[in-house]
Amino acid sequence: MQLSAIYKPVREDLVKVEKELELVSKVDFPWLAELLGYSLKSEGKAIRPALTLLAGKLYHYRLDNLLPMAMATELLHVATLIHDDAIDKSPVRRSKPTVYKVWGEDKAVLLGDYLFAKAGELTTVTQNIRVVKLFTQTLRVIATGELAQIFDAYNLEQTYQQYIQRISNKTAALFILAVESGAVLSEAPEVSIKILNEYGYNLGIAFQIVDDILDFIGTEKEVGKPIGSDLAQGTLTLPSMLLLERYPEDNPVKRLFQNRDRQEEIKLAIEQVRDSSIIEECYTVASDYCDRACRRLILLPDNASRQSLTETANYVIRRKK
Ligand code: IPE
Ligand code: IPE
Ligand code: MG
Ligand code: MG
Repeated sequence: MQLSAIYKPVREDLVKVEKELELVSKVDFPWLAELLGYSLKSEGKAIRPALTLLAGKLYHYRLDNLLPMAMATELLHVATLIHDDAIDKSPVRRSKPTVYKVWGEDKAVLLGDYLFAKAGELTTVTQNIRVVKLFTQTLRVIATGELAQIFDAYNLEQTYQQYIQRISNKTAALFILAVESGAVLSEAPEVSIKILNEYGYNLGIAFQIVDDILDFIGTEKEVGKPIGSDLAQGTLTLPSMLLLERYPEDNPVKRLFQNRDRQEEIKLAIEQVRDSSIIEECYTVASDYCDRACRRLILLPDNASRQSLTETANYVIRRKK
C-alpha cells in the first residue's frame, strides 16, 4: 500500500498540517523567511505528523489540539535533520542540497534551534502540560542519542544492546512522541496510551534499522541522501555489526575504523554486506520489531485509523526511501 493510501483517514488534515507548516516561513526577516521556506516545503514522508493524527482518530479527535501537535512533531524532526546534516557535513537531504551545504554550519545550527523553539511553542497551544513535558523529554532524549553516536564513533567494541539503546534515543523517541501525544490529546484511556507508546517504540526501532539497511543497499536517487554515510561517519549500525561478527579478523570495517578516511574500505564493506545474508538478517530483526509494534493494536478501537497504523508498520519494512 502507498503512503497516500495509508494516510487516507487523515488525508485532509495532513494537508492542513503541511499548509500551516509552510506558513511558519512567513516571517518579517527576508533571510530567515528564505531559510524557513527552503526547509519547510513538504518534501518528506510526513510519517510523524500522520501518526499523531492517526492516533488521535482512535478516540476524541480534536483538530484544534492535534494540528499544532502534528506540526510540532514534524518541526522537531526537521530540526534534528538540519542539525544531523551539519554534524555529518552531509551535502544532500530529501534530494536537494542540505541547509548546511547551502548556508553553512552556523546558520544550520541556529535554524535548527529556531525550529526546536517553534515546535515547543506549538505544543503549548494544546494547553496540555503532559504533551509539553513529553515533547521536552523527547528533545533531550534525541540529543542524548545523537551525542552517544558521536562518542561511539569509530568504536569497534559496541554491543547490539548499545545499538538498540542509541536508535531508541535518536529515532524511536520521536515516534513515541508522535503517537502518544495524539493519544493523550484525544483523551485515550491510559491502557491505550501504553499500547501506542509500545507501538511507537517498536516502530521507531524498525524504522531506523531499515534506514541503516538502506544506507547499504539503497541508491542516493531513491533515498534522497548519500549512501554509505554511516560508515563514513564511523557509525556502527546493524549491518556493519553483523559483518564484524562474521569476519572478526580480515574486515574492511575494522580497517576503516582503525585507519579512518579510506573510501576503498567503505566500498568493500558495502559490497561484502550486499553479497551476504546480512541484509536478510537485518530485515528479520526489523520485521520482528514491526510485529511487536502491532501485537496489541487489536485492543484499540477497530476503525480505519487502526488499520492505517498496521499498514504503516508494513510500509516501514517495504520502504525504499
Ligand atoms: C530520516 O527520517 C531520519 C531518520 C530517523 C532515519 P525520514 O526517513 O522520516 O525522513 P523524511 O522526513 O521522510 O525526509
Ligand atoms: C537520524 O539518523 C536520526 C536523527 C536524530 C536525525 P540517521 O543519521 O541515520 O539519519 P539520516 O540517515 O541522516 O537521515
Ligand atoms: Mg545522518
Ligand atoms: Mg541514516
